[in-house]
Amino acid sequence: MKLRVLGISGSPRKGNSEFLLEQALDGAAQYPGADIETEVYSFRNKHFEPCIACGHCIRKQGSCIHKDDFDDLRAKWLEADVIIYSLPVYHMTMPGQVKCFIDRLGNASFGSHKVVRSDGSETLSKQMKTIGTIAQGIHMFSGQEHTITDMINHALIMQSVPVTGDMWESYIGTGAWTCNQDARNAMDSLYEKQEFSVVAAVRSARLLGRRCVEQADIILKGLLASRETLSKDPAYHWIYSRLDKKLSGAPER
Ligand SMILES: Cc1cc2nc3c(=O)[nH]c(=O)nc-3n(C[C@H](O)[C@H](O)[C@H](O)COP(=O)(O)O)c2cc1C
Repeated sequence: MKLRVLGISGSPRKGNSEFLLEQALDGAAQYPGADIETEVYSFRNKHFEPCIACGHCIRKQGSCIHKDDFDDLRAKWLEADVIIYSLPVYHMTMPGQVKCFIDRLGNASFGSHKVVRSDGSETLSKQMKTIGTIAQGIHMFSGQEHTITDMINHALIMQSVPVTGDMWESYIGTGAWTCNQDARNAMDSLYEKQEFSVVAAVRSARLLGRRCVEQADIILKGLLASRETLSKDPAYHWIYSRLDKKLSGAPER
Protein backbone atom coordinates (compact mmCIF):
# COMPACT_ATOMS: atom_id res chain seq x y z
CA MET A 1 0.00 0.00 0.00
CA LYS A 2 1.15 3.55 -0.70
CA LEU A 3 1.84 5.61 2.43
CA ARG A 4 1.65 9.36 2.17
CA VAL A 5 4.10 11.14 4.48
CA LEU A 6 3.74 14.86 5.13
CA GLY A 7 6.80 16.48 6.71
CA ILE A 8 5.99 19.88 8.19
CA SER A 9 8.67 22.38 9.11
CA GLY A 10 7.19 24.83 11.59
CA SER A 11 9.99 27.40 11.23
CA PRO A 12 9.60 30.69 9.35
CA ARG A 13 13.14 30.21 7.99
CA LYS A 14 15.11 27.54 6.17
CA GLY A 15 17.16 26.29 9.07
CA ASN A 16 17.64 23.69 11.75
CA SER A 17 14.05 22.42 11.70
CA GLU A 18 14.36 21.60 8.00
CA PHE A 19 17.71 19.87 8.56
CA LEU A 20 16.21 17.48 11.12
CA LEU A 21 13.04 17.04 9.08
CA GLU A 22 15.14 15.86 6.11
CA GLN A 23 16.79 13.29 8.39
CA ALA A 24 13.39 12.00 9.53
CA LEU A 25 12.07 11.78 5.97
CA ASP A 26 15.20 9.96 4.93
CA GLY A 27 14.63 7.49 7.79
CA ALA A 28 11.00 7.08 6.68
CA ALA A 29 12.09 6.29 3.13
CA GLN A 30 14.17 3.36 4.43
CA TYR A 31 11.03 1.39 5.38
CA PRO A 32 10.77 -1.47 2.89
CA GLY A 33 7.20 -2.52 3.76
CA ALA A 34 5.33 0.11 1.74
CA ASP A 35 5.55 2.55 -1.11
CA ILE A 36 6.44 5.88 0.49
CA GLU A 37 5.30 9.17 -1.05
CA THR A 38 6.76 12.20 0.69
CA GLU A 39 5.81 15.84 0.68
CA VAL A 40 7.55 18.64 2.55
CA TYR A 41 5.61 21.66 3.75
CA SER A 42 7.25 24.71 5.27
CA PHE A 43 5.68 27.49 7.28
CA ARG A 44 8.22 29.82 5.66
CA ASN A 45 6.45 32.74 3.90
CA LYS A 46 3.04 31.38 4.91
CA HIS A 47 0.31 33.17 6.74
CA PHE A 48 -1.99 31.69 9.39
CA GLU A 49 -4.52 33.88 11.16
CA PRO A 50 -5.59 32.89 14.68
CA CYS A 51 -8.97 31.26 15.25
CA ILE A 52 -11.61 33.90 16.11
CA ALA A 53 -14.15 31.37 17.44
CA CYS A 54 -16.79 32.49 14.92
CA GLY A 55 -18.10 28.92 14.52
CA HIS A 56 -18.14 29.17 10.70
CA CYS A 57 -16.12 25.93 10.36
CA ILE A 58 -18.55 24.06 12.60
CA ARG A 59 -21.56 25.22 10.59
CA LYS A 60 -19.87 24.86 7.16
CA GLN A 61 -18.28 21.40 7.15
CA GLY A 62 -14.84 22.59 8.27
CA SER A 63 -14.47 25.57 5.94
CA CYS A 64 -12.69 28.47 7.70
CA ILE A 65 -13.73 32.10 7.36
CA HIS A 66 -10.10 33.29 7.06
CA LYS A 67 -8.70 33.07 3.55
CA ASP A 68 -4.99 32.37 4.08
CA ASP A 69 -2.74 29.28 3.88
CA PHE A 70 -4.93 27.20 6.17
CA ASP A 71 -7.12 25.37 3.62
CA ASP A 72 -4.13 24.22 1.60
CA LEU A 73 -2.25 22.77 4.59
CA ARG A 74 -5.44 21.27 6.04
CA ALA A 75 -6.10 19.42 2.76
CA LYS A 76 -2.54 18.04 2.72
CA TRP A 77 -2.86 17.10 6.39
CA LEU A 78 -6.11 15.19 5.85
CA GLU A 79 -4.68 13.26 2.90
CA ALA A 80 -1.55 12.13 4.76
CA ASP A 81 -1.12 8.82 6.57
CA VAL A 82 1.93 10.05 8.47
CA ILE A 83 2.64 13.54 9.75
CA ILE A 84 6.12 14.47 10.95
CA TYR A 85 6.42 17.91 12.53
CA SER A 86 9.80 19.51 12.91
CA LEU A 87 9.48 22.59 15.10
CA PRO A 88 11.73 25.25 16.53
CA VAL A 89 10.97 25.87 20.20
CA TYR A 90 9.50 29.35 20.74
CA HIS A 91 8.91 30.50 24.30
CA MET A 92 9.02 26.88 25.55
CA THR A 93 6.53 25.56 22.98
CA MET A 94 5.62 25.60 19.28
CA PRO A 95 5.75 28.83 17.19
CA GLY A 96 2.52 30.85 17.22
CA GLN A 97 1.84 30.23 13.53
CA VAL A 98 1.83 26.45 14.13
CA LYS A 99 -0.53 26.90 17.09
CA CYS A 100 -2.83 29.00 14.89
CA PHE A 101 -2.91 26.14 12.39
CA ILE A 102 -3.63 23.37 14.88
CA ASP A 103 -6.29 25.40 16.72
CA ARG A 104 -8.15 25.89 13.45
CA LEU A 105 -7.54 22.31 12.27
CA GLY A 106 -8.99 20.92 15.49
CA ASN A 107 -12.06 23.16 15.40
CA ALA A 108 -12.67 22.50 11.71
CA SER A 109 -12.93 18.79 12.59
CA PHE A 110 -16.08 19.50 14.57
CA GLY A 111 -17.61 20.65 11.28
CA SER A 112 -16.13 18.10 8.90
CA HIS A 113 -15.54 15.00 11.00
CA LYS A 114 -18.41 15.02 13.46
CA VAL A 115 -20.13 11.65 13.82
CA VAL A 116 -23.63 11.26 15.18
CA ARG A 117 -24.36 7.77 16.45
CA SER A 118 -27.80 6.11 16.27
CA ASP A 119 -28.42 6.96 19.96
CA GLY A 120 -27.87 10.66 19.17
CA SER A 121 -24.47 10.90 20.89
CA GLU A 122 -21.72 12.73 19.05
CA THR A 123 -18.05 12.00 18.51
CA LEU A 124 -15.26 12.60 15.98
CA SER A 125 -14.11 10.31 13.18
CA LYS A 126 -11.01 8.26 13.88
CA GLN A 127 -8.23 9.68 11.73
CA MET A 128 -5.66 7.01 12.62
CA LYS A 129 -2.65 8.93 11.31
CA THR A 130 0.69 8.47 12.95
CA ILE A 131 2.19 11.73 14.17
CA GLY A 132 5.79 12.25 15.26
CA THR A 133 7.46 15.43 16.49
CA ILE A 134 10.96 16.84 16.39
CA ALA A 135 11.55 19.93 18.54
CA GLN A 136 14.84 21.78 18.65
CA GLY A 137 15.88 25.01 20.33
CA ILE A 138 18.96 27.06 20.94
CA HIS A 139 19.38 25.99 24.56
CA MET A 140 19.46 22.76 26.53
CA PHE A 141 16.28 21.90 28.54
CA SER A 142 14.47 24.92 27.15
CA GLY A 143 11.08 23.67 25.99
CA GLN A 144 11.78 20.70 23.72
CA GLU A 145 9.82 18.21 25.86
CA HIS A 146 6.95 20.66 26.41
CA THR A 147 6.72 21.23 22.68
CA ILE A 148 6.66 17.50 21.93
CA THR A 149 4.06 16.93 24.67
CA ASP A 150 1.86 19.66 23.20
CA MET A 151 2.05 17.91 19.84
CA ILE A 152 1.25 14.52 21.42
CA ASN A 153 -1.89 16.17 22.81
CA HIS A 154 -2.63 17.53 19.32
CA ALA A 155 -2.23 13.99 17.85
CA LEU A 156 -4.63 12.57 20.42
CA ILE A 157 -7.25 15.29 19.86
CA MET A 158 -7.00 14.65 16.13
CA GLN A 159 -7.96 11.00 16.78
CA SER A 160 -4.50 9.92 15.68
CA VAL A 161 -1.57 8.03 17.13
CA PRO A 162 1.53 9.76 18.52
CA VAL A 163 4.73 7.88 17.67
CA THR A 164 8.28 8.06 18.94
CA GLY A 165 11.57 6.63 17.64
CA ASP A 166 13.63 4.18 19.64
CA MET A 167 15.25 4.18 23.04
CA TRP A 168 17.58 5.74 24.08
CA GLU A 169 17.63 8.71 21.74
CA SER A 170 13.89 9.03 21.43
CA TYR A 171 11.73 8.89 24.56
CA ILE A 172 8.70 10.83 23.30
CA GLY A 173 9.99 12.22 20.00
CA THR A 174 13.19 13.96 18.95
CA GLY A 175 14.53 16.74 21.16
CA ALA A 176 17.63 18.66 20.16
CA TRP A 177 19.57 21.85 20.82
CA THR A 178 21.96 23.94 18.77
CA CYS A 179 24.53 24.29 21.60
CA ASN A 180 23.73 28.01 22.11
CA GLN A 181 24.12 28.90 18.44
CA ASP A 182 21.42 30.90 16.67
CA ALA A 183 22.64 30.26 13.11
CA ARG A 184 20.15 28.62 10.79
CA ASN A 185 22.77 26.01 9.83
CA ALA A 186 23.97 25.36 13.41
CA MET A 187 22.63 21.81 13.53
CA ASP A 188 24.15 20.98 10.15
CA SER A 189 27.63 22.18 11.07
CA LEU A 190 27.52 20.59 14.53
CA TYR A 191 26.62 17.32 12.83
CA GLU A 192 29.59 17.65 10.51
CA LYS A 193 31.77 18.04 13.60
CA GLN A 194 30.04 14.96 15.08
CA GLU A 195 28.93 16.86 18.18
CA PHE A 196 27.55 14.20 20.52
CA SER A 197 24.04 15.56 21.17
CA VAL A 198 23.43 16.43 17.52
CA VAL A 199 24.59 12.97 16.39
CA ALA A 200 22.06 11.54 18.86
CA ALA A 201 19.35 13.92 17.54
CA VAL A 202 19.98 12.87 13.95
CA ARG A 203 19.78 9.21 14.91
CA SER A 204 16.59 9.94 16.84
CA ALA A 205 15.00 11.85 13.92
CA ARG A 206 15.82 9.06 11.46
CA LEU A 207 14.32 6.42 13.76
CA LEU A 208 11.29 8.60 14.40
CA GLY A 209 10.64 8.82 10.65
CA ARG A 210 11.08 5.10 10.23
CA ARG A 211 8.78 4.19 13.14
CA CYS A 212 6.09 6.64 12.00
CA VAL A 213 5.74 4.88 8.63
CA GLU A 214 6.09 1.38 10.08
CA GLN A 215 3.34 2.04 12.58
CA ALA A 216 1.11 3.70 9.98
CA ASP A 217 1.50 0.59 7.84
CA ILE A 218 0.56 -1.65 10.79
CA ILE A 219 -2.49 0.53 11.57
CA LEU A 220 -3.80 0.63 8.01
CA LYS A 221 -3.32 -3.11 7.50
CA GLY A 222 -4.96 -3.72 10.88
CA LEU A 223 -7.94 -1.58 9.88
CA LEU A 224 -8.37 -3.59 6.69
CA ALA A 225 -8.15 -6.87 8.61
CA SER A 226 -10.72 -5.68 11.18
CA ARG A 227 -13.17 -4.06 8.77
CA GLU A 228 -16.07 -6.37 9.56
CA THR A 229 -16.08 -5.41 13.24
CA LEU A 230 -14.92 -1.80 13.12
CA SER A 231 -17.04 -0.62 10.19
CA LYS A 232 -20.13 -1.09 12.38
CA ASP A 233 -18.93 1.94 14.37
CA PRO A 234 -19.62 5.20 12.45
CA ALA A 235 -16.47 6.69 13.97
CA TYR A 236 -14.54 4.50 11.51
CA HIS A 237 -16.56 5.29 8.37
CA TRP A 238 -14.37 8.21 7.30
CA ILE A 239 -11.12 6.23 7.52
CA TYR A 240 -12.61 3.28 5.63
CA SER A 241 -13.83 5.52 2.83
CA ARG A 242 -10.31 7.08 2.71
CA LEU A 243 -8.73 3.64 2.60
CA ASP A 244 -11.05 2.54 -0.22
CA LYS A 245 -10.09 5.63 -2.25
CA LYS A 246 -6.41 4.92 -1.59
CA LEU A 247 -6.72 1.31 -2.67
CA SER A 248 -8.64 2.21 -5.84
CA GLY A 249 -6.20 5.00 -6.70
CA ALA A 250 -9.05 7.57 -6.85
CA PRO A 251 -8.07 11.19 -6.04
CA GLU A 252 -8.93 12.22 -2.49
CA ARG A 253 -9.80 15.84 -3.28
C1 LIG B 1 10.52 34.08 19.23
C2 LIG B 1 11.55 33.03 19.54
C3 LIG B 1 11.44 32.33 20.72
C4 LIG B 1 12.38 31.34 21.03
N1 LIG B 1 12.24 30.63 22.19
C5 LIG B 1 13.10 29.62 22.46
C6 LIG B 1 12.94 28.83 23.64
O1 LIG B 1 12.02 29.00 24.44
N2 LIG B 1 13.83 27.82 23.84
C7 LIG B 1 14.88 27.59 22.98
O2 LIG B 1 15.66 26.68 23.22
N3 LIG B 1 15.04 28.32 21.87
C8 LIG B 1 14.18 29.32 21.58
N4 LIG B 1 14.34 30.03 20.43
C9 LIG B 1 15.44 29.72 19.52
C10 LIG B 1 15.05 28.78 18.37
O3 LIG B 1 14.26 27.70 18.80
C11 LIG B 1 16.34 28.20 17.76
O4 LIG B 1 17.13 29.24 17.25
C12 LIG B 1 16.06 27.18 16.67
O5 LIG B 1 17.27 26.52 16.35
C13 LIG B 1 15.48 27.83 15.42
O6 LIG B 1 15.14 26.81 14.47
P1 LIG B 1 15.12 27.10 12.89
O7 LIG B 1 16.58 27.27 12.48
O8 LIG B 1 14.50 25.93 12.29
O9 LIG B 1 14.34 28.36 12.69
C14 LIG B 1 13.44 31.04 20.13
C15 LIG B 1 13.54 31.78 18.93
C16 LIG B 1 12.61 32.76 18.64
C17 LIG B 1 12.73 33.53 17.33
